[in-house]
Amino acid sequence: MTAIGDPDIARAGATVGVIIPAAGSGTRLGERVPKAFVDLHGRTILEVCVAGVVDAAVATTIVVVVPADLVDRARRLVPDAIVVAGGAHRSDSVRAGIDAVGSAADILLVHDAARPLTPSAVFGRVVAAVRSGHPAVVPGLPVADTLKQIEPGSAGGTERVAATVDRDLLRAVQTPQGFTRDALLAAHADTGGLATDDAGLAERCGIPVHVVAGDPLALKITTPWDLRIARDIVAKSPLSAE
Ligand code: C5P
Repeated sequence: MTAIGDPDIARAGATVGVIIPAAGSGTRLGERVPKAFVDLHGRTILEVCVAGVVDAAVATTIVVVVPADLVDRARRLVPDAIVVAGGAHRSDSVRAGIDAVGSAADILLVHDAARPLTPSAVFGRVVAAVRSGHPAVVPGLPVADTLKQIEPGSAGGTERVAATVDRDLLRAVQTPQGFTRDALLAAHADTGGLATDDAGLAERCGIPVHVVAGDPLALKITTPWDLRIARDIVAKSPLSAE
């Protein structure tokens, strides 16, 4: 049993499980199939994502969470992974993944199927930081744009600016997000907890979250434009299935 911030997590035998929630509809992409099943130059986004996790060589267990009607298809596509059905919200799908890992891992990474090009080095940095004693670790990048906070309820085509945020103190957070097993269980113990990422749930429980360097290649495929960029990268790199 690991504990939040337990130094035993640093021991050589601490095992790593990766959970990949891919049970969303991905409607923003405008494709007919859920995002993870969209083609990325000859292979689905899901296949490329799982291959990236396997290449990173950090995990003993990989769990993929997909819509219930696509479980059989996903099992055929990614035989290296355990495949389970997801839930209505992202956090329900992550919880299904945590249950499927069971006690097989001391460190849990929650990755995003929509970030299939994440380099192995990012996985390595996240795992190393958890092993060094941080209970919750996210990869992040500095923000290039100037960011404005707007007044709530702004409408009618123009939005009133409330403040300009100090971007030097901001990080655009990616995945995989890494946790000691107990930190992730604590973060998800509140079943009413909805958040756009798991670190957000951990923060709410008072668990300290640390940032390590992310990578531009860990980009999230959300829009048709993102898909075009990702396909272009795969077509021009050794990641290509051809
Ligand atoms: O909605 P968003 O893009 O933030 O979703 C992030 C990831 O969570 C996606 O890979 C999506 O497939 C997954 N998800 C899920 N179960 C849901 C909703 C989203 O596994 N019910």
